[in-house]
Amino acid sequence: MTQPTPTVERNDARHRYEILVDGKRAGLTAYLDREDQRVFYHTEVDDAYAGQGLASRLVQEALTDVRAAGKRIVPVCPYVAKFLERHGEFADITDEVTPDVLEWLDSRLG
Ligand SMILES: CC(C)(COP(=O)(O)OP(=O)(O)OC[C@H]1O[C@@H](n2cnc3c(N)ncnc32)[C@H](O)[C@@H]1OP(=O)(O)O)[C@@H](O)C(=O)NCCC(=O)NCCS
Repeated sequence: MTQPTPTVERNDARHRYEILVDGKRAGLTAYLDREDQRVFYHTEVDDAYAGQGLASRLVQEALTDVRAAGKRIVPVCPYVAKFLERHGEFADITDEVTPDVLEWLDSRLG
């Protein structure tokens, strides 16, 4: 039996990228835009799909989309931060997490 290929979609209305397996949502990475920065603050994969590399695939495609949009990445989410440590190809479009960003994020998320 062949495994279904996961697909990644950007959901602008909900400010997140979602990974779908067999048409079902298996995980998401959530962001908010701050001028040209896309601030990633939370990533999750449903327990049923854990440990299959889905978060890695999701974040890889999300960050590739950020580049295509001409935006920059701010990795508040620890999973995205860890991913970036291993994937130097995004270093040129990554900004550090500053107190200003965290304060802005807090005010936006309530
Ligand atoms: C973190 C999470 C998204 C990983 O999803 P996944 O599809 O199982 O992840 P992958 O298979 O792509 O990668 C697993 C890797 O994630 C790492 N990881 C697990 N939890 C992590 C966390 N909280 N922060 C950073 N990295 C984490 C693991 O160490 C593993 O690394 P390894 O490849 O070196 O062993 C998932 O476990 C989850 O939803 N956890 C609960 C929410 C959470 O803690 N989110 C992260 C902070 S916002």
